[in-house]
Amino acid sequence: MRKEDFEKVESVWANNEDSVYQNKISHHRKIWGGWDNWGQHNLSEIKRCFSFLNRELASMSIVEWGVGGGANMGALSFCSQNYIGIDISPSSLVASTEIAKEYVVPFTPVLIGANPEEDLLSYFDSADLFVSTAVFQHFPSKEYTFEVLKIVYNLLKTGGVGLIQIRYDNRDGSKKSRTIEGIEEYQEKYMTATSFTLEKFWEELKRVSLQPLYISNIVKQNQYANFIFTKGEFQDE
Ligand SMILES: C[S@@+](CC[C@H](N)C(=O)[O-])C[C@H]1O[C@@H](n2cnc3c(N)ncnc32)[C@H](O)[C@@H]1O
Repeated sequence: MRKEDFEKVESVWANNEDSVYQNKISHHRKIWGGWDNWGQHNLSEIKRCFSFLNRELASMSIVEWGVGGGANMGALSFCSQNYIGIDISPSSLVASTEIAKEYVVPFTPVLIGANPEEDLLSYFDSADLFVSTAVFQHFPSKEYTFEVLKIVYNLLKTGGVGLIQIRYDNRDGSKKSRTIEGIEEYQEKYMTATSFTLEKFWEELKRVSLQPLYISNIVKQNQYANFIFTKGEFQDE
């Protein structure tokens, strides 16, 4: 991403003039009331995925893109051998580091910039589980999303599994469905900046050689959907 475009994204998540608001939209525990429920909700989705795969939810290496206030890490602490939390916001990495201390999770916070691949090379091939919830809809474009998905492929180990939540486009022309036309719209529309139809996001995963397994938790009201995928041939163990 161009540096000047990235600065617009940072002005919402990292350098927001209203730091209380920034922490709230970033799901920091002290200020966001949904913290506990959200982590537990996503844990139940991950449990369902492991049960589908006939795998134990045992100690493993987890990578989260947009770790925010660490709600998922708190819920996954019992099975986190180590947890890599990626974010563009230093204050989210501070907030999630506090959660890691409290939940005794070996945690590596990773601050990424405009070109995340450079920052993440040393974490390639490290994730048994990749998680990203409430983040992909905040990406500034479909092109950036594609670049991130290529990195997700590289972060996962062969046989690793992933959960990505998106806000889907149901082609009704509603505000939530429309991807912004350019970065100049980002500051106003970051909440629903990028969306895909369910079919298109499935194809995007395949385009980077990830194997989509199923879509779950399709919530019509806010147009959320979870994609579950793996890297490599799916083997029913
Ligand atoms: C709504 S919070 C979600 C936090 C957490 N994933 C959860 O589900 O509770 C969004 C987080 O993603 C981060 N974020 C926004 N854009 C990002 C990007 N392009 N790459 C990585 N993190 C990003 C924000 O700084 C914030 O911490």
